[in-house]
Amino acid sequence: NVPSICRDNIILLTVMCLSSARQLTVQMMQNPQILAALQERLDGLNGSPSGYMESLPKVVKRRVNALKNLQVKCAHIEAKFYEEVHELERKYAALYQPLFDKRSDIVKAAYEPTDEECEWKADEEEELTDEMKEKAKLEEEKKDEEKEDPKGIPEFWLTVFKNVDLLSDMLQEHDEPILKHLQDIKVKFSDPGQPMSFTLEFHFEPNDFFTNTVLTKTYKMRSEPDENDPFSFDGPEIMCCTGCTIDWTKGKNVTLKTIKKKQKHKGRGTVRTVTKTVPNDSFFNFFTPPEVPENGELDEDSEAVLAADFEIGHFIRERIVPRAVLYFTGEAIEDDDDDYDEEGEEADDEVKHLWPQ
Ligand SMILES: *[C@@H]1O[C@H](CO)[C@@H](O)[C@H](O)[C@H]1NC(C)=O
Ligand SMILES: *[C@@H]1O[C@H](CO)[C@@H](O)[C@H](O)[C@H]1NC(C)=O
Repeated sequence: NVPSICRDNIILLTVMCLSSARQLTVQMMQNPQILAALQERLDGLNGSPSGYMESLPKVVKRRVNALKNLQVKCAHIEAKFYEEVHELERKYAALYQPLFDKRSDIVKAAYEPTDEECEWKADEEEELTDEMKEKAKLEEEKKDEEKEDPKGIPEFWLTVFKNVDLLSDMLQEHDEPILKHLQDIKVKFSDPGQPMSFTLEFHFEPNDFFTNTVLTKTYKMRSEPDENDPFSFDGPEIMCCTGCTIDWTKGKNVTLKTIKKKQKHKGRGTVRTVTKTVPNDSFFNFFTPPEVPENGELDEDSEAVLAADFEIGHFIRERIVPRAVLYFTGEAIEDDDDDYDEEGEEADDEVKHLWPQ
């Protein structure tokens, strides 16, 4: 299994030779000997990388194998590096937590921030004349009077969800009244010495839809090179995830819908209507992801669902939770263009690879 860079270089060389060959055509046509020699060289370069490896003397091949064994050892050290990164993240998570808790308290109106805490100088304000400021202030006051007194920051997380394409794609209209009750999302890392994982906790205020106060989604990760393909190691990967049971109150299960079906009796030809429950699109299906079977093999649909799920889980942990306010205001929302890299390719494995960013 030769790294692809090697293959690319050989192709590049071949292309270079071919274009210089074109420039030389006139001269060469007159000299069959040069032509034959060049052809021979091109044939050699055109060979597959394994062809090139095979062409090397045995003693050299032997040493190349030694280099590859060193490379495997490097991959194992790299895995240790990422384990330490995980430890460091855990340590810093504890430092961020009091701030996230305060954020949550403000959002759900458990704490009213002081004037000092609310001071924020927006860039545009500098440009405004006193007269304009006075006018803006009056308008604000009028707006406030019209509305009833809001508590905390209403629909904070629902707005975040709506502002982020990755999440709004999952959101159905019937999910919105439920997500209005979402008060906080927390990230919990696995304990030291335990297999690497993180859990997203969705904290809800008491509501009519389900009795749970917290819905959880756990992502298990692996940070070690695959024995069969050690060179593909590129940092921790999410391997699988588990959701939780939602205790829906009667008639509120939005992940289900009932459909009426007409059935014809085979013998008598009479028709009866039966009601059937079938899965319905909903964000809350996020909590019942497909299971990864022991042998690791999945059908295409489940694989696509999981690839998207891992991307979402990772995004919530890495982006949404750390800077929720900026997704609420829209400041953290990137241009669509930024989602694609230069070559315009969206490599499959990018979804799974958490590091490096
Ligand atoms: C199922 O989904 C449809 C459309 O997305 C929605 O209108 C309907 O309310 C859902 N059913 C239930 C029971 O939530
Ligand atoms: C809700 O619907 C899901 C199917 O989407 C089902 O597995 C689950 O048992 C239902 N829960 C309740 C409490 O009805």
